[in-house]
Amino acid sequence: MRILSGIQPSGILHIGNYLGAMRQQIALQEEHEPIYLLVDLHAITVPQDPKLLRQNTLNAAAMYLALGLDPEKAILYVQSQLSEHAELAWILTTIASMGELERMTQFKEKGRGEERTKVGMGLFSYPLLMAADILLYKAQKVPIGDDQVQHLELARDIAKRFNQRFGDTFPIPDALLAESGARIMGLDDPTVKMSKSATSAYNYIALTDDADTVRNKIKKAVTDSGSEITYGNDKPALKNLLTIFSGVTNEKAETITERYAGKGYADFKTDLADALIAFLSPIQERYQHLLTDEQQLVDILHAGAERARPQAAHTLKEIKEKLGFVL
Ligand code: AMP
Ligand code: TRP
Repeated sequence: MRILSGIQPSGILHIGNYLGAMRQQIALQEEHEPIYLLVDLHAITVPQDPKLLRQNTLNAAAMYLALGLDPEKAILYVQSQLSEHAELAWILTTIASMGELERMTQFKEKGRGEERTKVGMGLFSYPLLMAADILLYKAQKVPIGDDQVQHLELARDIAKRFNQRFGDTFPIPDALLAESGARIMGLDDPTVKMSKSATSAYNYIALTDDADTVRNKIKKAVTDSGSEITYGNDKPALKNLLTIFSGVTNEKAETITERYAGKGYADFKTDLADALIAFLSPIQERYQHLLTDEQQLVDILHAGAERARPQAAHTLKEIKEKLGFVL
């Protein structure tokens, strides 16, 4: 079974990326040969500083490795290193309609405020590039956070349409959502998802945040009214903090709440910050060490692309034949 996902190398990675996506992606390497892409072609749909993009791509590779991705098991590479992604994305633009792309929430959100005629073409067709990533490997399972489900639905529709027109080619991919953590909310606002593009750094815990920053951000995190530590929808801010607590300690949320019977938010927050720091510090140590050898990271990414290349080329050839291109 083919498993594939992608992550944008466009800035910090946060605890939402980890709990919503990266954690289960890495776990899947034990039984499958999953493919994980650092999707730089997606990242450039909003303006990127070239130097930063390059560094962020290496940083994301180092973070995957620091979190436990084993490049002998999983295939990790940079999307732009195989031109098949862009080629297939073009072909898919001829199969999708403007209407279905206009309905994408992420496009609507990112394009908000811009005059409609000024919204980037890349931002608009972005989900087709994601569909191309998935279909290029005939992936069946796609481990993602909740915010990518709509894009995956589009990929499913495109796969079905292609199969109808050109004959059975693609399996219909399913989303794999984390049981808990598929949608981590902002620390400063539990009604919006935690996001690297948040205007305030108090929105997220970056995987690279140091101990003082973590303590400070958790201290400032929004809480609900009432002083009891309980897990439920009536306390969305606390529920989010408990999901994070549970995610980094592997304890059940209920087990955690029992410990705080009769105690208040202050104790809870101190311990949550400690748990986060205990979780993050060994990862950050490995991460910093990995970044000292840039060439090693580049080599790992090249090796990943080379392992994936034959299958990408094979699928694209099959598609071109079906479309009637002269080969
Ligand atoms: P991105 O950073 O947008 O490329 O997202 C990388 C992965 O992390 C995707 O699978 C997202 O769905 C997931 N993700 C991003 N933000 C969150 C969040 N706040 N909670 C859970 N998963 C998330
Ligand atoms: N669009 C996804 C995001 O922003 C990243 C992504 C690109 C992806 N290609 C993919 C996810 C293929 C799953 C499968 O998070």
